Amino acid sequence: MPSFSMSRISENQVTPEEIFFKKRRQMLIAGMLTGSSFLDRTVYAKDGLTSDDENAGALKATPIELITNYNNYYEFSNDKKAVKVLAQDLTLHPWTITVDGEVENPFTIDIDDLTKLFAMEERIYRFRCVEGWSMVVPWTGFSLARLIDRARPTSRARFVAFESVHRRSEMPGQRAGSLIWPYREGLRIDEAMHPLTFAVTGLYGKPLPKQNGAPLRIAVPWKYGFKNPKAIVHIRLVSSQPATSWNILAPSEYGFYGNVNPLVSHPRWSQQRENSIGEMKKHSTLMLNGYADQVAYLYAHNDAKALY
Ligand code: MTE
Repeated sequence: MPSFSMSRISENQVTPEEIFFKKRRQMLIAGMLTGSSFLDRTVYAKDGLTSDDENAGALKATPIELITNYNNYYEFSNDKKAVKVLAQDLTLHPWTITVDGEVENPFTIDIDDLTKLFAMEERIYRFRCVEGWSMVVPWTGFSLARLIDRARPTSRARFVAFESVHRRSEMPGQRAGSLIWPYREGLRIDEAMHPLTFAVTGLYGKPLPKQNGAPLRIAVPWKYGFKNPKAIVHIRLVSSQPATSWNILAPSEYGFYGNVNPLVSHPRWSQQRENSIGEMKKHSTLMLNGYADQVAYLYAHNDAKALY
């Protein structure tokens, strides 16, 4: 497993989940957390919640058993419950990440060195899959902007392209033909540099499980889950919009932006409500997944299409 340094909240590595969250809540109330204001606002975000929203109030993290046993990871299987077992065959060492393209300082770094570079933070984010289900996930990691800054993007860098690992010998789904491999995703550079966009190395204060995208995945909380690539090996700064896996497969169903928008239906289902995994009732889906106050400005100059 990759080494795991947590300079801010290392106690959570040994604290049972319920106590961990109780303690964190007390710390937040006491204003002791040193994270950015985004962190505080995200943990207990009321931003964008509508009055009829059953979610109003503190976000309650989905139990870890559910987050780690119900996974979309097509490199292994399209059966969400089979992914966990199959993903254990993925070798995580050695693992390097290359950041290159339109940058002054391209580099390749080993994942163990990367996790030592930045102080780790925790972010509790809503997670909304385009299929209509949602979770609340306590991720550990660092702002993606820090990694990108290190490469010093040139003025030609307008998008960021992510590539997941391509390893047919360990990934049975890559031997079948569901998507074009490797899994590819992308963001506009201002989206990638936004403080909410998170490079994830852990979950519930522990190293990221293989089925959730170890050793490195991206969390973009205002976008549908498919915009959160797992097992990243390559981050390329590019001048034009990169091709992305689900968009190549079904462009009318999965836009490049993939922003959560309850007003825009998927061609085959409504996006107005969501099934919160682990709860009996459905919830209203929030504009930009509840992060509109923080990110709507990114789309102020786009036509409405940019929102999905
Ligand atoms: N990344 C890779 N490499 N392969 C995938 O199949 N699936 C995406 C995204 N990232 C996927 C991926 C989709 S559709 C979703 S909903 C989320 O991962 C699921 O993340 P989770 O299993 O941690 O809930």
